Amino acid sequence: MATVNFAATSLLPSDFCSGNRSFSGCSVSCTKLVYRRRTVSMCVASNSTGTSATVPEKPEIELEFIGPKPSGDGSYPVERAKEISGEKLLRNIMLDNKIELYATYGKVMNCGGGGSCGTCIVEVLEGKDLLNERTNAELRYLKKKPESWRLACQTIVGNKENSGKVVVQRIPQWKK
Ligand code: FES
Repeated sequence: MATVNFAATSLLPSDFCSGNRSFSGCSVSCTKLVYRRRTVSMCVASNSTGTSATVPEKPEIELEFIGPKPSGDGSYPVERAKEISGEKLLRNIMLDNKIELYATYGKVMNCGGGGSCGTCIVEVLEGKDLLNERTNAELRYLKKKPESWRLACQTIVGNKENSGKVVVQRIPQWKK
């Protein structure tokens, strides 16, 4: 859908004023027209067939975050989020949704997403194929860790074309 703005010229009744003038001996009554410009906004939707078109929705990734410790009833807390595929790092999704990412040390000493502290560890329980491959920073920090562990600041959620569900274990080092 496109929005088109254009200026339309209109004559409004209140814009008319009258007066008498003389030109070489003859008197004429003239009407002065005052033009006012008005901006009109309208929406136009069309496609090659001339029918209205809907913009295709971007694929989305659903996320579930499992807490590291059981709550009072023995179940593990689950938080959820949904993001457009390939647009965000896992770290940013968690921070934007106020989902706790860091363990005690990482809360005060993390590198802010630069891939140089190794404290933003998560475990991907489901949906590994919807994420990017491990980066060099992950290969360095997670060399001796399970393959399912990732650094959230290095993990891109989706590739702009895929969709599905990713299940993340928060702070997996607390479960070992
Ligand atoms: S925040 Fe430091 S490595 Fe991810």
